[in-house]
Amino acid sequence: MQNAKTVRRVNVGLIGLGTVGGGTLQLLAQNSRLIADRASEIVVKRVCNLDIPYTEAKIAELGLTETTATSDYHDLVNDPEIDIVIELIGGIHPALEMVKAALSAGKSVVTANKDLVASHGAELFQLAAENKADFLFEASVAGGIPILKALKDSLAANNIVEIMGIVNGTTNYILSQMSHTGADFQPCLQRAQELGYAEANPTNDIEGFDAARKMAILASIAYNANITEDMVYVEGITKISKFDIDYAAQLGYVIKLVGLARPGADSETTAENSVEVCVYPLMIPLAHPLAAVNDVFNAVFVEGDALGQSMFYGRGAGSLPTASAVAGDVIAAARHILNGTKGGYGLRLFAQRQVLPIGECYNKFYIRLMVQDKPKVLAQIAEAFAASDISLDSVIQKRVMDSGLAEIVLITHQVKEANLQEAVERLHRLSCVDCVASLIRVKGE
Ligand code: HSE
Repeated sequence: MQNAKTVRRVNVGLIGLGTVGGGTLQLLAQNSRLIADRASEIVVKRVCNLDIPYTEAKIAELGLTETTATSDYHDLVNDPEIDIVIELIGGIHPALEMVKAALSAGKSVVTANKDLVASHGAELFQLAAENKADFLFEASVAGGIPILKALKDSLAANNIVEIMGIVNGTTNYILSQMSHTGADFQPCLQRAQELGYAEANPTNDIEGFDAARKMAILASIAYNANITEDMVYVEGITKISKFDIDYAAQLGYVIKLVGLARPGADSETTAENSVEVCVYPLMIPLAHPLAAVNDVFNAVFVEGDALGQSMFYGRGAGSLPTASAVAGDVIAAARHILNGTKGGYGLRLFAQRQVLPIGECYNKFYIRLMVQDKPKVLAQIAEAFAASDISLDSVIQKRVMDSGLAEIVLITHQVKEANLQEAVERLHRLSCVDCVASLIRVKGE
């Protein structure tokens, strides 16, 4: 049994003192006694940040007498007393070089850097294993929500049937605002920028790239494979109009930007061990638990063959919520050091899996068309779908415009996406079709 009086202490180096770095330093200081009781004393020995006066002021503000500032990360990596390096600068370079240097020096690394893990994860897991170090990154997906540890450990006995995640707070805020106020995309984006949720250049969020990186990480863990962000099919939310939001509500759905990972559907071209990993706007039935996830909140809905359905909900960004995940990883790494199990617990991405091209995936679709308001138009549209072997669930004629065009909303049954694309090509060729205004996937049964 551990002697309660044994001094357990682990020294840490922190790189980056932005929103998450500042929150992590604060959390480790404010809950230091609790953390010492649960694991060990954790001392941030050095903070690496380019702005030294700011860093020193922050250290003084938190009353950290054992912490010094540096602008050179080598001061952390080369310090034999530092056991764990926390990387919180984000982006690929120089974060990649810093993390590699720390792992190569045998130090465990904790990061919140989704860009790095989603593109260089496998290489870093390997380097960590070679150096018997931990490489932990809970904060890289859905901020403070403990989903990676849940997938890796608590659900390790399950085949993962499906992961559906709302993993980007900015787009969830924008879509929630569109639903609640009836406003269109641009004013809601502007509001998100005014509130500091969306960045001045919002591309990574609104085009779905941020969510794609998180889905690559989730899918890699769930399916034991090296799935990188470039393998993830992505559509963002910029084409979603207030009309679609309104029709979705009338039909009993809400539109969310969803990341999806699941085993590939059966088809003649599908390998048994294939997976689908995608990010796109999805119409979710109002009764689904994800439909109630609003504003900047994130949630990851996981179905396991043993567990059944579960949902992990919380804040996907922000200083202390993200610091909560970072500090949790630091505590885990400290425990492994003190128990002599450091580096014994890394990810093994052993499976070879094909990520299915989007054309091979199956979904129901909502389609909004602008057409001539005259006889036989519906018959021609139905023929275009039938020619691509697509069966329609419902067809609703909505508004007739001043221009003389009519708006038609259709919902298909489950279709292979390649067939749907073929039908859309046929629609474009029909003279009675003015345009295909929207095409949105619908969550099936
Ligand atoms: N920009 C992200 C979001 C937060 O809006 O959820 C960091 O991953």
